Amino acid sequence: MLLVFYLIFLNLFDFIIYGVDKYKAKNDKWRISEGFLLLTAFFGGSLGAWAGMLIWHHKTRKPKFYITVPVLSVLLIICCALCLYSNYHLTVSEYNVEIGLPEELTIVQISDLHNQSFGIGNSELMRRIEEQSPDMIVVTGDVIDSTHTSYSIALDFFEKASTIAPVYYITGNHEVRLMGSRFNEFLTRLDELGVIYLDDRYIDCGSYIIAGIADISLDDFHAYEAFDDSKPVILLAHEPQYDGLYSSLGADLALTGHYHGGQIIIPGKGGMMSPEFEFFPSIYEGIHDFSGMKLVLSRGLGNSVFPVRINDYPEIVVVKVH
Ligand SMILES: [Fe+2]
Repeated sequence: MLLVFYLIFLNLFDFIIYGVDKYKAKNDKWRISEGFLLLTAFFGGSLGAWAGMLIWHHKTRKPKFYITVPVLSVLLIICCALCLYSNYHLTVSEYNVEIGLPEELTIVQISDLHNQSFGIGNSELMRRIEEQSPDMIVVTGDVIDSTHTSYSIALDFFEKASTIAPVYYITGNHEVRLMGSRFNEFLTRLDELGVIYLDDRYIDCGSYIIAGIADISLDDFHAYEAFDDSKPVILLAHEPQYDGLYSSLGADLALTGHYHGGQIIIPGKGGMMSPEFEFFPSIYEGIHDFSGMKLVLSRGLGNSVFPVRINDYPEIVVVKVH
């Protein structure tokens, strides 16, 4: 959203300054430099600049304007289209994991929604989740974004998701920043919707255990001891880099997110950057083996401070657990 406001502001600004410069040229006043006019077009204001050139009949005979500004405009349109496609093209990744369950369990994992909507009222996201006929939906943190906080999208998501299958939820680092009375009201509402809040809790489901770790507890975890080995353990946690902790607790399958796929995936090189500013982290998506434990790392669905995904499509993860 910030990027949209930036582009709207810059294009309006460019449109106006081309008009102002035309007025100054007519009235023989101090002019805006051509370098500045081109620079603002280069940084995303080219459509406004082009409109300004045409409406105010300004700089239309100078090749460095009548060639550069339309070329920059076409590039801007291509970049915006690619960015929109990369940010909103929903994908489904499916994994099969054997942990010794008596019956197959279909888990849909939703991670890092960050207040994003896919279709009006997240209709497209819901449709794709429902298609999977899940036995449970697990939400592994950052459903809200702390930089543009809105509880309404998250609540709407939980309300709709809980009509499809039981929903389990743990917090991510963004919810940690929001903790306080408003967040507690949010949790109360989730409780009313029947969402199972699994921060630092576990539930014995008979043939397996489902456990969760609050993001705030990751550095000093004491909520529960390692599980006895008699039952398979499915663990929900936000951050993948604590794989040693998850494995030491006896998790057979850990479902994580947080990395957003590295935001930009470069073929042959991987995800560009982790939220900890590690360039090309060793893992950025997919399923991984850590001393017998399977760790799923979702690319997630939304964005936070860095609003762009490139070649890093939003992901619904489906895990068929046996
Ligand atoms: Fe996130």
